[in-house]
Amino acid sequence: MIKTYKSIRGTYDFSPEEACQFNKIAEKARHIFALYGYNEIILPFLEEEGVFVRSVGETTDIVEKQIFRIAKRNDSDSDIVLRPEGTAQVVRYYLEHALYKQSDFNKFSYIGAMFRGERPQKGRLRQFHHIGAEAMGSDSIFLDAEMISLALRLLDEIGITERKLNVNTLGCQVDKEKFMSLLKKDLSARRNELCPDCQRRLLKNPLRILDCKQENCKKIAISFCLSETTGKTYLCDDCNNKFQELLKLLKSSNIDYVYNPCLVRGLDYYTNTVFEITSTALGSQDAIGAGGRYNNLIKNLGGPDIPASGFALGVERVMLALNKSQAQISPDVFIAVIGENLRDEGFKMLRDLRSAGVHCDMDYCAKSLRGQLRYAEKKDINFVVIVADEEYKQGLVILKDMKASTQDKVKKEDLIEVVRGAIADGEGAA
Ligand code: HAM
Repeated sequence: MIKTYKSIRGTYDFSPEEACQFNKIAEKARHIFALYGYNEIILPFLEEEGVFVRSVGETTDIVEKQIFRIAKRNDSDSDIVLRPEGTAQVVRYYLEHALYKQSDFNKFSYIGAMFRGERPQKGRLRQFHHIGAEAMGSDSIFLDAEMISLALRLLDEIGITERKLNVNTLGCQVDKEKFMSLLKKDLSARRNELCPDCQRRLLKNPLRILDCKQENCKKIAISFCLSETTGKTYLCDDCNNKFQELLKLLKSSNIDYVYNPCLVRGLDYYTNTVFEITSTALGSQDAIGAGGRYNNLIKNLGGPDIPASGFALGVERVMLALNKSQAQISPDVFIAVIGENLRDEGFKMLRDLRSAGVHCDMDYCAKSLRGQLRYAEKKDINFVVIVADEEYKQGLVILKDMKASTQDKVKKEDLIEVVRGAIADGEGAA
């Protein structure tokens, strides 16, 4: 028996409809990014492992459990991995090309595949796509507000209105460390109730306990975040004021948010503002986008002390949250030829219509007229041009409006103009 193959678990095949939907989302994102002044970059899938170990963090799930390592081809190769996220990579790019020397403020956007060796489930893939933005060179709270409003604007344009914005602040590095030591102190007393992973995290990186998926650890972590002892006592005045300013800014911009003191994000590089957008249309994997400030990352990756902020949306989750019926890739026009002798003519018409920018197709399976009409109906095509012997001899073709079930004879030389008019009328009516 010949072996047949299936896609790798946790990867996803986009059907033509889904690929169309994906491209529309990307197109909208590019339009909005341009509006907000973000310049697109396209970076490689492959990076040196250290880029993520030193940024996302050695004890995070992404680095500890999910990195896809590429087999070395020879000993001089560095440790190459498939990128699990874009932020650290954009920082690597920014530093490698010393872009801070060219401009003190830089804005980038990116759209591309990311890879994480997660346990696959609905909405959790091993290969997925990010639409992301990063801005380097400002510590302004207005930039954080822009990031949040940009992420929400993208979702608006894409058509996701059912969503919830969670915001929190981790404070500066000193505050974050204070928070971690409070957490460590509090949870050490309940060490035995934590899962083995969290017992280890308690020593190495207590903040990561707040991302644990185990119910009991989650409960313990939440009760700590909500407790009186935390009550934002770890925040310095400056960070607290900044966060209050951000919340005011969101309010005055009519952006609904939920202040969530338990939101810490699963990546180590964040400081101060963090946010996550969830969709009510999704199941357990309900985060459709997230981001925040990472003021120490550029310095930690060997660069100058430059603050930065960003976010990324997960495209597959966005698509899951969208109503699938929105996907449409049907051509506007179908050319149905009766008889093999006219196929050549039909093919020429197809070429001319396409040159004129009309989205059209024809039959390549020698179907009967009825078969061709049935196909056009099934594909939801609005107009069919019927090329039949008798009319053709008189310089005419038949233009059938599939929705209205009407048809007219049209002069061959007028076809492009008439078809364009009919499509425009249809779009106007829609
Ligand atoms: P993240 O939260 O890891 O953040 O990923 C952002 C979004 O990507 C998530 O909210 C989710 O929608 C999607 N996502 C993550 N993992 C998966 C997966 N396994 N399968 C499907 N979708 C997934 C980051 O990666 C940060 N780099 C975001 C950022 C940019 N922060 C600052 N700048």
